[in-house]
Parts: sequence; C-alpha cells; structure tokens
Amino acid sequence: MEPFRTLAALGHEQLVLCSDPTCGYRGIIAVHSTALGPAVGGTRWWHYPSDEAAIVDALRLSRGMSFKNALAELPLGGGKSVILGGPEAVDRAAILRAHGRFVDRLGGSYITAEDVGTSPADMEFIAETTRFVAGLAGVSGDPSPHTARGVLRAMEAAARHRWGSSDLRGRRVAVQGLGNVGMNLAKLLAAAGARLVVSDIDRAKVERAVRELDATEAEPERIHAVEAEIYAPCALGAVLNDDTIPELRAQLIVGGANNQLSEPRHGRELAARGVTYVPDYVANAGGVSYGGSIEVLALKPEEALARVDRIFETTIMVLDRAAQEKIPPSDAADRIAIDRIARASR
Ligand SMILES: NC(=O)c1ccc[n+]([C@@H]2O[C@H](COP(=O)([O-])OP(=O)(O)OC[C@H]3O[C@@H](n4cnc5c(N)ncnc54)[C@H](O)[C@@H]3O)[C@@H](O)[C@H]2O)c1
Repeated sequence: MEPFRTLAALGHEQLVLCSDPTCGYRGIIAVHSTALGPAVGGTRWWHYPSDEAAIVDALRLSRGMSFKNALAELPLGGGKSVILGGPEAVDRAAILRAHGRFVDRLGGSYITAEDVGTSPADMEFIAETTRFVAGLAGVSGDPSPHTARGVLRAMEAAARHRWGSSDLRGRRVAVQGLGNVGMNLAKLLAAAGARLVVSDIDRAKVERAVRELDATEAEPERIHAVEAEIYAPCALGAVLNDDTIPELRAQLIVGGANNQLSEPRHGRELAARGVTYVPDYVANAGGVSYGGSIEVLALKPEEALARVDRIFETTIMVLDRAAQEKIPPSDAADRIAIDRIARASR
C-alpha cells in the first residue's frame, strides 16, 4: 500500500496508527472528512488477517460514514476506528481506555461510538479517558428501531417512485435476517399491511415472525430469489453479487444491511436489469440520524424522529437524480455525498 496515494484517492484527511504496548493495544483511527462537522463513526473490534487489511477496513468504513452522514444532512463528518484484536486473552477495559486516550488527542475532530465487536458497556470504558464518545447506555438508546423506521420510509419512497403510491398494503416483502433491525422492520411492515416472507438462520426468530406477524418462511439461501415485490436485506453484506442478481425477482431492494453490493459494478448491474436499488447507506441512516440528533445536536426525541423520517425525501431525491442522469442510484447517492462534502470544504 502507498499510504498517501490511498488517502488522496479516497479523500481522507487523516490516518492515525495508535499503540500502547503496556496493555497490548493496537488501534487505527481514520478521519475521512470533517468538512460538515466532527467525524463520527464507531469503534470496530476485529481480528484482521493483516495490518493492511485493518487499515483498508478503517479507510473504507470511515468514507462510508461520511457519505451516510452527508446524505442524512447531519452536520457531521465521517470517521471510523478499529481495534486490532485476536483470540488471545486481553485486559479489555485497559485496551478501551487506551483507545479513548488516542481519540481524546484528536480534540473532538473524531467522535466514536459502538460498532461490530463493541457494545454500549465498552463505551463506558472509553468515556473514562475521553468525552468524545457517543452511544453510551441510557442516552439515545438502541439505534435499531430507528434504523428500521428509516428503512420503512425508504421503502415507501421507493414504492412511490416506482409504482406511484407509497402505500405498502398488500405488497409482498422478503425480509432477510430477523435481528435487531430485521424484526423491527418486519413488525412495521406487518402493521402497514404488507405480506411478509422471512428468513433467518435462527429458527426461533423465524417461528416468532410466522406466529406473530403471519409471515411465511423461506430458506435462508433462497430468500433473495422468492416471489416478492420488495427484497429487504437485513443480515449480511455483499448479498447483491454475481450469483444472486440473476435470480432476483423483486422490483425494489431496500434494506438495513451495510455494504449490500458486493462491488460497485453490481449497482450498475441492478439498474441494467430494471431493479430499483436504494443505496444501503441512504436506507439505513435512521440509527445515526436519531443518535446524532440527540447526542450531538441536542434535539428533542420528536425532532430526532422527524429527521429519521426525512429518509423518505432523501430517497426520492436520490432516485430522481439517478433517473435524470441515467445512472444507478448507488452512483447518484455517492455523487450527492461527494458534492455536499466538497461544497462544505470550500
Ligand atoms: N442496528 C442498527 O441500528 C444498524 C444500523 C445500520 C446498519 N445496520 C446493519 O444492518 C444489519 C443487521 O444489523 P442488526 O443490528 O439487526 O444485527 P443482528 O445481529 O441483530 O441481526 C442479524 C440477523 O441476521 C441473521 N442472519 C445471519 N446470517 C443470516 C443468513 N445467511 N440468512 C438470514 N439471516 C441471517 C442473524 O441470525 C440475526 O438474526 C447489519 O448489516 C448491520 O451492519 C444495523
């Protein structure tokens, strides 16, 4: 890797390598952009195959946060940090405190929160050494219901764009993954009168949705291909790939999962097949919109919910721009984000 060339290519401001051998801490903080405000993004604790893989992940994720926050019209930039963890026993609290010290040295240009591999309880340790941490237990709470609400708004907007009505009554929706986001989304869809087909590798969750939400069940490896008008990926990333795209039957894809496209070219592939794909970071911004509104902007809960609901208008704007410029929505969203960040930088 040529670090400066990589930073320039992706538009990053700063990459910090952090180390504290006294507790075995090794961390990376990537600040993509502070043009719109402090760079906000979680701390991922993960076992990476190499240092380079960890750096690439931090760079990619921090850029994704910039784009998500820019599209959500939050006065926030994008950052992300990773803690390189292995299977060995470690003093978790000491590592998190060390991480907090490095976050603190950035003086507020980066604000962290939980992510894959860290929890609200972990944020309490980080908060012992920095005040630049969000997502503490009992402040803005679990983001998942707000993420699900935002996905529903994006789905309603895509329905209006495609079919002329945002009403989801009677529409058949395939929900992949019934975790924190997927189950909340399934409940909202059932309340809106949609017909559900669901999958999860956890039998108990599927049985609950069948029992309580009148859902039908699909095999986890076939959910993308079922007869449904809308496909909502809410589990894993990279579910839109060379194998699944030819088998899709849905006209709309709108879900909560991060990084749904295996590669950027798959966004173009979907558009070429006439499938309307709402970019994941547009649809799943409800959690960060709510949390950012409460914890960074100090808005009231009802004002924060109104910001989540703006995902409807944002989705319409992205789909309109894609149609006008004859480009896939994934490219349209990236262009809008890049424009907003560039304008703020000037
Ligand atoms: N929680 C949030 O607020 C939030 C915000 C933005 C993005 N996301 C993204 O949304 C996705 C879901 O997040 P979550 O918080 O609901 O996670 P979660 O761990 O609570 O749920 C994931 C669910 O997917 C299921 N699953 C795993 N593999 C599967 C497979 N092959 N087929 C079907 N189901 C499978 C799991 O059993 C689990 O029930 C993730 O990609 C996450 O990064 C979440």
